[in-house]
Amino acid sequence: MYRTHTCGELRISNAGQKVTLAGWVQKSRKLGGMTFIDLRDRYGITQLVVEADAPEALVEQATSLGREFVIQATGEVIERQSKNGRIPTGDIEVKLSEITILNKSVTPPFTIEDESDGGEDIRAKYRFLDLRRNPLKNALMLRHRIAHETRNYLNNLGFMEIETPYLIKSTPEGARDFVVPSRMNPGQFYALPQSPQTFKQLLMVAGYDRYFQIVRCFRDEDLRADRQPEFTQIDCEMSFVEQEDVLNTFEGLMRTLFKNVLNVDIANPIPRMSWYEAMDKYGSDKPDIRFGMTIHEITSSVKGHGFSVLEDAAYVGAIAVPGAASYSRKEIDALTEWVKRPQVGAKGLIYIKLNEDGSIKSSIDKFFTADDLAAIGEKVEAKKGDLILVMSGDNIRKVQTMLGVLRIEMGNRLGLRKSDEFAPLWVVDFPLLEWDDETQRFYAMHHPFTAPKPEQMDLFYSDRKEDLEKVCANAYDFVLNGTELGGGSIRIHNADLQKRMFNVLGISDEEAEYKFGFIIHAFQYGAPPHGGLAFGFDRVCALFGGSDSIRDYIAFPKNNQGRDVMIDSPSEIDQVQLDELQIDIRKQS
Ligand code: AMO
Repeated sequence: MYRTHTCGELRISNAGQKVTLAGWVQKSRKLGGMTFIDLRDRYGITQLVVEADAPEALVEQATSLGREFVIQATGEVIERQSKNGRIPTGDIEVKLSEITILNKSVTPPFTIEDESDGGEDIRAKYRFLDLRRNPLKNALMLRHRIAHETRNYLNNLGFMEIETPYLIKSTPEGARDFVVPSRMNPGQFYALPQSPQTFKQLLMVAGYDRYFQIVRCFRDEDLRADRQPEFTQIDCEMSFVEQEDVLNTFEGLMRTLFKNVLNVDIANPIPRMSWYEAMDKYGSDKPDIRFGMTIHEITSSVKGHGFSVLEDAAYVGAIAVPGAASYSRKEIDALTEWVKRPQVGAKGLIYIKLNEDGSIKSSIDKFFTADDLAAIGEKVEAKKGDLILVMSGDNIRKVQTMLGVLRIEMGNRLGLRKSDEFAPLWVVDFPLLEWDDETQRFYAMHHPFTAPKPEQMDLFYSDRKEDLEKVCANAYDFVLNGTELGGGSIRIHNADLQKRMFNVLGISDEEAEYKFGFIIHAFQYGAPPHGGLAFGFDRVCALFGGSDSIRDYIAFPKNNQGRDVMIDSPSEIDQVQLDELQIDIRKQS
């Protein structure tokens, strides 16, 4: 037996017992002839001591131990002279009678401590060492707990966990596919699933009316803090349900996770907001409702004053930033530069300061009287001391989106986005279709299997672009603190309706047959009404852990270039493999 206890287990009640521990040497130090060793495993740290009068061989062995050596140590649990209240085993130490070195370690490239001295790159390269540190261990433990609670909740409701294949054909989520060449079918490729969307719908046709899977998904898209090329979804689908059933079921999942994992009671019921309201008030389809500072349209209030920027704009909107009237000219100039960066894309920023003393100062003083500006202030519900920030343009949604980005930035600057506050929200009534000016066609806002609202069928069968733009989907997103944690929809289960959808999206019968033939055919064999959703599991974990970055919650993540620097992947493959696959690499000159 390698060990009788873990390194996190022994307490004062174990005093007098003979125990054997196994683990990694965190550090060892000599003090007045005695050698102290901190022994670490997944469960904690226990102090070991080799006394000055111990046999010489043992003392020598204890002093020879290097950092991260793996050892087995046997001895007697004794009460400590100087207790350490910061660790659970801090009342005791183990007086050693025997040490066995199970394996040596070369000196690690960084310290294995909560605040490591290693930079990000070196820690990524030695991820297996980084994972020994508490912050990452705690993140993975949190992930495990959330997965466990999720399985419990869904299992109790009769959901079956069913695995779906990874080597498949293109899925309809709209990102680029990762592809895998097939040796047995030269010239042909599998696609890795962007989600199990089509398979879970086929499971509904097969009658497995409550499915879930904690499943890996693959998307070849540009990476950010909350995006990885392979990530995990809590993917779910149900039959014989309406939108209301799906929302209630998964509101329950989130409420249970918050309660059981964080002991937090979230809003009950979770508020709902239409996509239109989210865009109009927050300039985002994933609004952070922890704070106000909402967008107000002031288009009609700014006309007729001769200021061409506002005069010619189809839409003018504003936010009132509480207490920011004290911003200096320099600070406002810096903010203006900030919104002009390509990431935001504004042409400029107009400001109106409602000073505490009742005076008003703005960048449009030449065109507006104090009364005019006060009227605008009233419209945006600003108070004395607020700074009103105004943007304008021809594309309503674009201006609102820019104001939304500015709102979040001001929320950050004012400390209004507290990580221990959780404000969940369902965003509902998404438009079904999105028009793209460049390609002059509609795209499915969610995916092409999402059902239009039944009461809008007339509009959906209309040939007019304006009518089609008005059709809402039975689609919903779960949003938390400004992050989209999940999304889903009620699906189309009727072959004619699906045909119409492809038709609206400009997907020809042949293309539909080639891409989605298997599901279209399957739907002819009794597809039940169904719907579902998927949560981004890594995002749920990061948010529960109070972090913006999902990378710490994934054992072996990729970096921003999509590389795993630990195993050095992606990498070239040898000629034999290429020949077998009948693939020629065209080198860019
Ligand atoms: P969707 O594409 O909205 O829906 O994805 C669901 C959730 O997955 C998370 N997510 C990601 N997380 C990390 N890295 C990524 N690259 C990434 N992309 C998405 C998000 C998102 O809300 N099949 C549908 C679901 C359905 O209709 O049932 C789907 O995949 O949190």
